[in-house]
Amino acid sequence: MDATPIPFYDTPLAVVHGRDFGDVGARAATAVLARLHARGFTCGTIVDVGCGAGVAAAAFCDAGFTVVAFDRSSAMAELTRRAAPAALVSVGTLDTVRFPSNCVAICAISEVLSYAPSAAVADLGLDRFFDLAASSLCPGGFAAFDLVTPGRLGPEGRRTMEQSMDDWRLKVSGVEDRAQRTVDRRISGAALIDGVWEPIEEQHRQITTSGEQVAKAAMRAGLTCDLADSYDDQPMHGVTVAWCTKL
Ligand SMILES: C[S@@+](CC[C@H](N)C(=O)[O-])C[C@H]1O[C@@H](n2cnc3c(N)ncnc32)[C@H](O)[C@@H]1O
Repeated sequence: MDATPIPFYDTPLAVVHGRDFGDVGARAATAVLARLHARGFTCGTIVDVGCGAGVAAAAFCDAGFTVVAFDRSSAMAELTRRAAPAALVSVGTLDTVRFPSNCVAICAISEVLSYAPSAAVADLGLDRFFDLAASSLCPGGFAAFDLVTPGRLGPEGRRTMEQSMDDWRLKVSGVEDRAQRTVDRRISGAALIDGVWEPIEEQHRQITTSGEQVAKAAMRAGLTCDLADSYDDQPMHGVTVAWCTKL
């Protein structure tokens, strides 16, 4: 008998993300496009790793770029297909999706690379991401991503947030273990979909990564690395934003 898959951005949570959590994706896309234009890139291929509901993918398509987008969650990939019909969208991970060559940018926006079962797996995943970036980017092309940093949940190491709109409600309880570098989140609630309240019950583990670790991994892959606290001048909490360029 097949084991039931562990829910990970299944339809109700994916729909909530698509409805009201596209802000970081939109801001990051604006920053990525500004940097591309500043470097003289007005066309070319952008890979969007963990594309979610497709906010950034849609912005990249609208700006005239070819977009290869993928997500581990089939519900998220389906939302990207709707938001960005011109994008080449698939369900997959860094281990299963083939990257095109000569990309102008590779993005992993909103903590995509932080999801992992352990620190060792996350560190390997970051190295794999950088190896793919180094071999797939054109000269002057760059990787842009953000990762969860240590201390994400403050000195207490735990936080609970409740949020709701007319068509969804969420309770997110997080616990950080500084020694293991884990942030475990339990996400529960419901989303109104086609007139029916669909329950949400998911558990996500993220791994914290310091800016220093990111810079060292980028250097190992031969990429330059600029770190920031945000994609723009609006504050972001508990993340490092990295811009890593292939010279
Ligand atoms: C917080 S959402 C961000 C979505 C989108 N990038 C945005 O900015 O709105 C994180 C996304 O990463 C995806 N994800 C997490 N780990 C992944 C992996 N190893 N490979 C591909 N997608 C992954 C999740 O399914 C989810 O859609």
